[in-house]
Amino acid sequence: MIAARILIVEDDRIVARDIQHQLSRMGHVVVGMSASGEEAVRLACSQQPDLVLMDIRLEGEMDGIEAARRIRDAQRIPIVFLTAYANDEVVHRASLTEPFGYLLKPFEEPQMRTVIQMALYKHASDTRLRLSERRYAATLASIRDGVILCNRDGRVDFMNRAAETMTGWTAADAAGQPLSAVFVVVDEETSKPLEDFSAVVLRSGDFAPPERQSRLLPRGGGEADGNATDGLVVEERCSAIIDDRGDPVGSILVFRDLTQRRRIAEALRTAQADLAHIGRLTMMGELAAAVAHEVNQPLMAIVTNAGTCLQHLSQPQPDLEKTRVVVERIVRDAQRAGDVVRSIRALARRTPADPGWVDISALIAETLELVRAELRRARITVETDLQAGPPWVHGDRVQLQQLVLNLVMNAIEAISAADRSERLLRIVTGSGDGWIRVRVEDSGPGIAEADVDSIFRALYTTKPDGLGMGLSISRSIVELHGGRLTATPGISGGSVFEFMMPVSPGGQ
Ligand SMILES: Nc1ncnc2c1ncn2[C@@H]1O[C@H](COP(=O)(O)OP(=O)(O)OP(=O)(O)O)[C@@H](O)[C@H]1O
Ligand SMILES: [Mg+2]
Repeated sequence: MIAARILIVEDDRIVARDIQHQLSRMGHVVVGMSASGEEAVRLACSQQPDLVLMDIRLEGEMDGIEAARRIRDAQRIPIVFLTAYANDEVVHRASLTEPFGYLLKPFEEPQMRTVIQMALYKHASDTRLRLSERRYAATLASIRDGVILCNRDGRVDFMNRAAETMTGWTAADAAGQPLSAVFVVVDEETSKPLEDFSAVVLRSGDFAPPERQSRLLPRGGGEADGNATDGLVVEERCSAIIDDRGDPVGSILVFRDLTQRRRIAEALRTAQADLAHIGRLTMMGELAAAVAHEVNQPLMAIVTNAGTCLQHLSQPQPDLEKTRVVVERIVRDAQRAGDVVRSIRALARRTPADPGWVDISALIAETLELVRAELRRARITVETDLQAGPPWVHGDRVQLQQLVLNLVMNAIEAISAADRSERLLRIVTGSGDGWIRVRVEDSGPGIAEADVDSIFRALYTTKPDGLGMGLSISRSIVELHGGRLTATPGISGGSVFEFMMPVSPGGQ
């Protein structure tokens, strides 16, 4: 049994006392007794009882029905009427206050016990139901999806705030309207009118499509005429509401605005395309810088040799034989420039242009020949310890020559920048375990520990006329051949660049 705090409103004091005793015996607490309607309203407010036992005929102006109405409106406290007579008019008036029960006087204790228990129980379940309804209402109000509930005739019972915003209808205006008037949807592609989804679901049950995409026309936006381009693109889902007997008693339509999501997806696609474009531009930029870098050396040689040529030819008796040798050098350098451009294009495509067996030691000797003039000008002593004969590297001859040339040029520039008496370039090759190793050592100023990673980045340079491409190209060439290029400090302060490459292609 639920013990409750009860207010007794009864103008017959003897009856009131009697009821009080009975209630106490049942374990309830009587929180107040009143003989008039006015006082009953006051007591209900101050005591907040769980239940009011209300006589209909009372002292004073206000009768029990009026007092019950006021208490119900203000406090939602359950009321049980006590009455000695019950004509139709009184019962009708009383029923408007939604009482929780009637007790016809005179009544026995068991009767009162049952009516009070029922009233308390009903009140508790009403409270729970109201709370649960509030929870649902709060949930529906706070979600961004539109929700419309329809009855079994396909008329709108309820719609949440998001549905109001998206359809342009207020819930009050929409209530009782056919769904097809409130939620006007057309096919997104053809703009042909679509049947309202709740009708489809009520008819086809589980066979109805689980969702569909459509265009929701704005309120008052005219009939679907096949040309609609405005309105929201929505994704709709609809389910039937089934009662205890398994019959559909209505439907719930949930829909979501896809416009925003599509806009974001579109922006993402554009951003990705932009990024890919930027990537291509960066690659193009690096390619251009690489070409400029690698072609510069043969071009300078061509200019120097062409100058020599002109000098020869301006003699009264030009030595044609000598001139021919210089012109041959020009032709050789021009061809080399062409080869270099081709090899860089292959490098950008990440394929060796023209793979074959390359004797690295011989290649180093040839490359040193190319820069003999620079070495002499910078008064650099060259020491080499080049392993003769196989194993050879399988790779692209022009690219490998570019690699050695870049390391040698850097070494020459480093030595020239350092103010040291020792001006030494040493190149050593070796092999073992299926790898070929090449060390290029110089007596320059060396590389600070912190810069070891940066120097391999494209466009990183510390030289006024540098492009910052040499090492980045060199590393690409080495990696393309399955090898590694590293920089370390040299023993005597300079730096050591070392690359190793697998002897056979693929590094096996
Ligand atoms: N042997 C070396 N000794 C000391 N520092 C070096 C050496 N080689 C490269 N560096 C440093 O690494 C940087 C990058 O070298 P990289 O060859 O990539 O470009 P760069 O020589 O500056 O210009 P370029 O693109 O014309 O070759 C150089 O600017 C220099 O600071
Ligand atoms: Mg360089």
